[in-house]
Amino acid sequence: MSFRLCALNALEENVGRSFRSPAGEVILVLRDANVYAWQNICPHLGINLEFNPDEFMDCEQHYLVCSNHGALFQVEDGLCVSGPCHGEALLPVPIRIEDGEIYVADSASTTN
Ligand code: FES
Repeated sequence: MSFRLCALNALEENVGRSFRSPAGEVILVLRDANVYAWQNICPHLGINLEFNPDEFMDCEQHYLVCSNHGALFQVEDGLCVSGPCHGEALLPVPIRIEDGEIYVADSASTTN
């Protein structure tokens, strides 16, 4: 059974939000009518990116940022372009959008 994350219209353009799911914590970012979904795990130390709830973007709302050591990640492909994990990437979470609702796709691995 698919796990619902949120309504599509609950997302704002270029604002990251996180949601708990059976596949782990998922960061969603809406950009140019696409929704990007990444595991909330920094490849540097394997910990969450944010210090405060839903503070995932840099001040220009262009990159996802890790608050711990300032790594910057491209929203579209999760690639780290600056910081201690330069060249590594966030892990994608497969999602599907149906009737205006965003779900973790059934193919996503689950964690207990
Ligand atoms: S834990 Fe994310 S940059 Fe160090």
